Amino acid sequence: MSEKAFVMIKPDGVRRGLIGKIVCRFEEKGLALVRAELRVVSHETAEAHYGHLKDKPFFGELVDYITSGPVFAMIVEGKGAVKNSRSLIGPTNPAEAPPGTIRGDYGLTVEENVIHGSDSPDNAAMEIDRFFK
Ligand code: PPS
Repeated sequence: MSEKAFVMIKPDGVRRGLIGKIVCRFEEKGLALVRAELRVVSHETAEAHYGHLKDKPFFGELVDYITSGPVFAMIVEGKGAVKNSRSLIGPTNPAEAPPGTIRGDYGLTVEENVIHGSDSPDNAAMEIDRFFK
């Protein structure tokens, strides 16, 4: 069944000019880009997006980083979009992400790991609503 996932190229990915290459990965996989916007995330949206991490010691830095420059927010659509985009993206820590995944190919550290992808269909719906309402 067709599904939608929320994916966001983070400020480091945008700064390094990786938008085209990353979008290409999703398209090659068979996931369609159905909506996209280059924009700066507000503090309020960042705090809501990472609300589940507010007790972590890195929360402040995470909010500063995600609001530090434009992100490329996307909705991708296709069969199993959430699971398929997670496997394209790879594990949270790029040092543990295998080559061939986006984080494995383009990232170095967990603090700046190039891209975010929703981890469940429920979170995808919430994140799409938050970023594209
Ligand atoms: S958890 O609770 O740590 O398992 O959360 P997870 O879903 O893996 O996502 C963590 C997000 O926080 C960002 N981040 C860090 N994670 C771990 N350690 C450090 N030091 C850290 N700094 C930032 C990480 O990039 C994840 O961001 P998203 O956008 O969800 O990929």
